[in-house]
Amino acid sequence: MMREDDVKKIVGDLYEPFLQKPLKELAAVKDVKVKPEKQHVSVKVALAKTGSAEQMQLQQEIVTRLKEAGAETVGLRFEELPEEIVVKYAQSAPEGDRTLLNKENQPVFLAVASGKGGVGKSTVSVNLAVSLARIGKKVGLIDADIYGFSVPDMMGITVRPTIEGEKVIPVERFGVKVISMGFFVEDNAPVIWRGPMLGKMLNNFFNEVEWGDVDYIILDLPPGTGDVALDVHSMLPSCKEIIVSTPHPTAAFVAARAGAMALQTDHDIVGIVENMAYYESAKTGEKEYVFGKGGGEKLAEELGVPLLGKIPLKQPDWDDSDFAPSVYDETHPTGLIYMDIAKKIDESISI
Ligand SMILES: Nc1ncnc2c1ncn2[C@@H]1O[C@H](COP(=O)(O)OP(=O)(O)O)[C@@H](O)[C@H]1O
Ligand SMILES: [Mg+2]
Repeated sequence: MMREDDVKKIVGDLYEPFLQKPLKELAAVKDVKVKPEKQHVSVKVALAKTGSAEQMQLQQEIVTRLKEAGAETVGLRFEELPEEIVVKYAQSAPEGDRTLLNKENQPVFLAVASGKGGVGKSTVSVNLAVSLARIGKKVGLIDADIYGFSVPDMMGITVRPTIEGEKVIPVERFGVKVISMGFFVEDNAPVIWRGPMLGKMLNNFFNEVEWGDVDYIILDLPPGTGDVALDVHSMLPSCKEIIVSTPHPTAAFVAARAGAMALQTDHDIVGIVENMAYYESAKTGEKEYVFGKGGGEKLAEELGVPLLGKIPLKQPDWDDSDFAPSVYDETHPTGLIYMDIAKKIDESISI
């Protein structure tokens, strides 16, 4: 049985990545809570810089250590250390690390989640990323669906990333920097790595990829609420989430579990995207609610977040000269809906 003091000790002994001091010395371990009945541990950690790759790495370390010590689930929040502390210790920090204290250029992590597969999570991730780039944002896209990666095919990416020095240079497509497990496996071989490898891979996506200056990092999460999805949720830095659901009320129930998981891992939910919301007849313009109706609204209400938009059932226009089977053009009716959603998201997250 874990106690709050154990959590303080385990986390407090880890080093703050920028200042190179144990967290306890910086009084950076806060709000420790243990829910004994579930062995759910929540803790807030203060860092010199949040939303960074270093945070990601530390986050993973904390989750691993706490799980080893018996925690079933871990909720982590991060905040920034007070200025005085940072200034005081930054002077003694190694030279090379000081530039990382630069508070600019912190991307917003925006994870796209769903209760189950097949609802269009990857399609939404890809088109949101492209639309955010279209409104002038600098965007990275991580295909974190490590076993079911699909982003490279959906975007019509035919090249692989290059390596420069020690860093992987992501592939750029429609102004979005993309990284996917799909780039690192042989042609369509199944990925059978589990557990710790998954964490390592994700970590590499953050630390060994040269993202450069990005405003947003979109993450296409594994579907569902199983172990893999939970691990990925726990590993991510404090991030924002979008939940994708189809309009059927039962689909919304399932999606609500993804929402609950986001909240349990202390992620903010930005809103809901209802996909495959209706089919619009090309002849009459009439809408048919093929997969039911009202699920998006219901889910939004249940989670207390906005319904950001409804995407109809419709394919992108295919263009053989520049093939990207899942990307809607800027002028396609669905492309316009995605632009609207991207603007709403960007407005709700001030960066
Ligand atoms: N709004 C839509 N209209 C038509 N087809 C769609 C739509 N959204 C997704 N699809 C198709 O449905 C399938 C599942 O979508 P995908 O994004 O791969 O789902 P997930 O990532 O949730 O498993 C894909 O073949 C995709 O092209
Ligand atoms: Mg997918």
